Amino acid sequence: MEPMKLDFTRREFIKKNSLAGAGAIVGLSSAGKLFTGFNPDTTVPAILGGNPVITNHKWPSWPIWKPEVDEKRLLEVMRSGVWSRNKVVAEFEEKWAKLIGTKRCLSMVNGTNALNTSLAQFEIGWGDEVLVTPYTFIASVSTIIFSGAMPVFIDVDPETFQMDPEKIEEKITSNTKAIIPVHILGLPCDMDRIMKIARKHNLIVIEDACQAWLAEIDNKKVGSFGNAGCFSFQNSKNIPMGEGGAIVSDDEEFMDRCYSYHNYGNPYGSVAGEVGAGTLRIGTKLRLSEYQAAIGLAQMERLEQQTETRNLNATYLKSLIGQVKGITPYRLYDNVTRAAFHLFPFLYHKDDFNGLSRGKFLEALRAEGVPCSGGYSELNKMPFIKDAFSSRFFRKFYPESSLDYKAFLEKNQCPRNEKLCKEQAVWIPQNVLLGTKTDMENIASAIEKVSKNTDKLRARS
Ligand SMILES: Cc1ncc(COP(=O)(O)O)c(C=O)c1O
Repeated sequence: MEPMKLDFTRREFIKKNSLAGAGAIVGLSSAGKLFTGFNPDTTVPAILGGNPVITNHKWPSWPIWKPEVDEKRLLEVMRSGVWSRNKVVAEFEEKWAKLIGTKRCLSMVNGTNALNTSLAQFEIGWGDEVLVTPYTFIASVSTIIFSGAMPVFIDVDPETFQMDPEKIEEKITSNTKAIIPVHILGLPCDMDRIMKIARKHNLIVIEDACQAWLAEIDNKKVGSFGNAGCFSFQNSKNIPMGEGGAIVSDDEEFMDRCYSYHNYGNPYGSVAGEVGAGTLRIGTKLRLSEYQAAIGLAQMERLEQQTETRNLNATYLKSLIGQVKGITPYRLYDNVTRAAFHLFPFLYHKDDFNGLSRGKFLEALRAEGVPCSGGYSELNKMPFIKDAFSSRFFRKFYPESSLDYKAFLEKNQCPRNEKLCKEQAVWIPQNVLLGTKTDMENIASAIEKVSKNTDKLRARS
C-alpha cells in the first residue's frame, strides 16, 4: 500500500509550531478536548464496550512493494542467472555509502553479522570489555558475547531512550576496548559526547545503526561518526530486503579486512598476498545475493521521502500527546537534525493515570484502534549471558571471579532501564507514521480518551 500523502509540508508545520505554539496546533478547546470537530465517545472505553476512536482502519502495510517499478530490476537479476554477489550488490553498496556519507560500504547477510564482522576485524574479543546499552535488540549484546568479550551495560537516559553519556566513564577499565552506541528506535545517540569519551580513552566505536537509516546529527548521518557503522535491512526495517545488513566506514584497511572476512578470507584490496598463495586469513561467508540487493535498491528509492513523512508525523504526534498529563514523548538531543523513527516512543507515567498499569493502558489503547506495545525487556538480565558464562569456552578463558553471575548482575544494574522496560516505555510502529495527519490526531484522541477513563479501566479485572 502507498504511504498516504500528508496534507501539510515540513516548512508549514515548523512555522505554525513556532508562531502559534503547541496549543494552537492541536486546537485545544476550552472544554479541554484535544480536537475541535472530533467527538469520540469519551464516556465508555472501547475495551469496556464503547465505540473505539479508530474503527476498521487500514494502517499503511509493510513492507511496501510496487510491482510496476520494483519488479523490473528484480526480474532482470532473476533472468540473468547471476544470483550470487556481483554488480547489483556493488551498486547497492556504492549508493548506500554515498547516502550515509562514508568512503565505503560492505553489504552482508544481516545486521547481526555486520556487528560480528566489525568486532572481529577490530580484533575485539576474549578479555576485552565492550560498553553497550541494555535498551536494545539482543544482537547488539549477543554479538559481544559471541566475540568472547564481556558486555558492560551503561544505563539509559529514559527521555531519549539512549545510552546516557554521563554514565560511560565510570564503567571504563583497563580492559575496555570499545563502545557500541545503539541508535535505538531510530533516535540518534549523543554522538558528540560519546566520541569525545572514546577519543580520550582510545576506544573503538562501532555504531549500531541497525534501526537508524538516514538519521542525522548536525546534518551528518549516523553510522558515519564512529570507526564503523552497522545497518540492518531485515523485513521489518525501514529499508527492508527480507534479510540483509551492511558495514560502513572511512577506514579503507578495515573495510578490506571485512571484505576478505565475508568472503572466506580471500585477498581483497590491502589484504593482498602472492598470486596463487590461496586463502590468506581466517574468514567466513556472509555475502549478500544479487536479488536481495535488487530489492534493496527499489526500497532505497523511497527511503528519503518516507523518512521525511515519519519525521513530520512524529513531530506532530509528539506535539499532540505532550499535552496529555502522564505522557512524555521521546526527546531528541539538541543537535539531532533528523531521526529515523523505526518506532515512535513515549513514556507512560502510571501515577498520572490513577495507577493504571502500563499493561492495562496498552490493552485499552489497542482497543481504541492504536497499534502499540511495551517494547524491550531488560537485556542485562537475560539468561543467555548466564549461559555463556557457564560454557566451556568462557570457563576456559576467564577466571572464575569474572564469571560470578551474581556479581555481574550487581555490577551491571541499570535501574532506569529497568523502569523503562517494566513500566514506562510505549512504542507505536513505524508504518503507522506513514499515515495521515488525521491518523496522528486520532491516535492522540485515543490516548486522551484512555487518560480520561482511568477509574473505569482500573476497576476492570
Ligand atoms: C538494534 C539492532 N541491532 C542489530 C540488529 C540485527 O540485525 P539483523 O536482524 O539484520 O541481524 C537489529 C535488528 O533487528 C537491531 O534492531
